[in-house]
Amino acid sequence: MLKKQSKTYPLFWVKSMKRRPIIAGNWKMYKTKDDALAFIYAVNVEVPDKEKVESVICSPAIFLRDLVKREGENLRIGAQNMHYADEGAYTGEISALMLKSYGVDYVVVGHSERRAYFNETDETVNLKLIAAVNQDLTPIVCVGESLEIREAGTTDKVVKKQIEKAYLNVTSENALKTVVAYEPIWAIGTGVTATPEQANDTIIAIRKVLEKLYGKEVSEQIRILYGGSVNVKNVDSLLAMSDIDGALVGGASLDPNSFLTLVRAALKK
Ligand code: PGA
Repeated sequence: MLKKQSKTYPLFWVKSMKRRPIIAGNWKMYKTKDDALAFIYAVNVEVPDKEKVESVICSPAIFLRDLVKREGENLRIGAQNMHYADEGAYTGEISALMLKSYGVDYVVVGHSERRAYFNETDETVNLKLIAAVNQDLTPIVCVGESLEIREAGTTDKVVKKQIEKAYLNVTSENALKTVVAYEPIWAIGTGVTATPEQANDTIIAIRKVLEKLYGKEVSEQIRILYGGSVNVKNVDSLLAMSDIDGALVGGASLDPNSFLTLVRAALKK
């Protein structure tokens, strides 16, 4: 499997590799079982070669088993959240261990909706990141600023703190197994996208933080996605930027044709 291979690349080899783009759909709390199955049947054989672009669907937990069972060669399935403990008395929660036992490969960690509505903090994001990589899941670690912060001009400072806290006690070997998603809160679900330059500048700032933590060799390998009102119209200009390695997509990932257009756009990267 693709992810497993990348984990065994020695650093010197990793260094010379290009960052493979990722398009991850975040379905949030949408779709019924029938919708979810219809979607996977529509995209399964159409998604591009996984060696060229990683196509991922992060679905509500209840659909994961059905989707993993049907995932084709080039599609991967992710969860939208997890608990950081492997097991315990946490009614209603799902662990990384459980996700892995069902063949899930990715998990979104620290999405701003979870930070805003479900008490997710930088500390729990850190614990979840570590728990995910320990179970061989790829965490998609979300950071991003509010409109007030953007307007106050302190975006880089705030995002730097989020990254530093998320990666506390994370080794460079494990950092390489993670993906970052830069998602400005003001751009999520609003139809207002960050300009490609704004998104790229903040992503470069994030990469600099990772460089400070892990060195250039590692920071150059970590994929950093942009998220926030990505759609079939703006995806090309976003992906054309130097440091945007793909997208985490909400609304525009719900329709199979739209999702396929996005993953095909990533082929040009
Ligand atoms: P959106 O959501 O594409 O609907 O703005 C992105 C996200 O929340 O990950």
